Amino acid sequence: MPREHLGNIVFELTQACNQCCRFCYNYWRDGSTPLPPPDPGKVRRTLRKLLGQADVGTLSFSGGEPMLLKNIHDLALYARFRGTAVNVLTNGTLLTPQALQNFVSIGIGAIQIPVLSHNPEVHEYLTQLPHSWSKATDALRRTAESLPCGAYAVLVITKVNAPDVPQTLDLIYSLGVRNVMVNRFNIGGMGLRHTAELVLDRKTLARAFADVETFAAAHPDMHFVSGVCTPLCVMDTTPYRHIRFAWCSTDFSRRPVAVSYTGDVRFCNHSPVVIGNIYERPIGEILSDPATLGRYASIPERCSDCRLLKICNGGCRAASEQVYGTFGEADPILDY
Ligand SMILES: C[S@@+](CC[C@H](N)C(=O)[O-])C[C@H]1O[C@@H](n2cnc3c(N)ncnc32)[C@H](O)[C@@H]1O
Ligand code: SF4
Ligand code: SF4
Ligand code: SF4
Repeated sequence: MPREHLGNIVFELTQACNQCCRFCYNYWRDGSTPLPPPDPGKVRRTLRKLLGQADVGTLSFSGGEPMLLKNIHDLALYARFRGTAVNVLTNGTLLTPQALQNFVSIGIGAIQIPVLSHNPEVHEYLTQLPHSWSKATDALRRTAESLPCGAYAVLVITKVNAPDVPQTLDLIYSLGVRNVMVNRFNIGGMGLRHTAELVLDRKTLARAFADVETFAAAHPDMHFVSGVCTPLCVMDTTPYRHIRFAWCSTDFSRRPVAVSYTGDVRFCNHSPVVIGNIYERPIGEILSDPATLGRYASIPERCSDCRLLKICNGGCRAASEQVYGTFGEADPILDY
């Protein structure tokens, strides 16, 4: 079988985490803080298996909290030797100066750390971990110093922190960070327990993005990307010219596919549905299975006549899988 070429894989090193973010999309979250992380040898075996089956352009190490894995630097180095770029998505609380230095030496492309508010109380209300704000902001400042182009702040916008957006961006700028991923709260995981409190109504969502746009226009040295698709009938993106909007694609070659440390493969990191396991079938075979392709070809009924369908694709339909149990419905944010 020819080797598969995959542009971007989200590799989930663990389901464990030291935080219990109210908004976390991880479908396995049940309100507890799952620890400990898995056997590091198992994670390494899965990485070897994956890179044995496919050439991967970029691996994004995620989870759970990937810094809980004691061998994360070995895993990154292994992937780098195989010619794969590596990014790390971490809550920043465990990113010691030594750990950061190791990543820099290995040639990590990007490190993404969420900063949810300029106000420590709001950040820690959302993460449910005391002292997480000072650790995350310190980690982000050090990352910006060591990896100026690869330091990303992640701002997950919920109803709770939406009023803080301008001051939070001021803080991010003062930390020396010039790349920001702006994610509207996407419904799923722990967020299902807190949806009413977190979900953004249209007016608040538009206001928050207008605040980001104003800040972005005034700071041409910064780059803003919106990481979660929002249905175009919920938010028109045209006024936000300084924010790059990424659109979801059902084409596996144009979207990050999620692979867990156990080898389970999913449509993307937000999707709860396992479509195969790389210990049972090569990833190329899993992704080209006609039954799988058929499953993701469906069009939501409410979108069938929409002229925006080609771009919008019904919003985040992994969120539909989490809320309605099917990919065939449009993004559940439409019902709020
Ligand atoms: C699930 S986390 C895993 C990595 C790491 N634990 C962290 O928090 O960065 C991956 C990214 O998704 C973001 N995220 C989590 N839940 C989200 C949600 N419901 N909507 C949008 N972004 C979310 C996090 O802020 C983080 O940047
Ligand atoms: S968003 Fe990240 S830090 Fe927060 S609970 Fe989820 S995995 Fe943990
Ligand atoms: S495709 Fe569906 S979700 Fe998107 S704008 Fe059209 S109706 Fe709304
Ligand atoms: S289904 Fe949702 S989370 Fe998954 S790639 Fe598309 S927009 Fe992103």
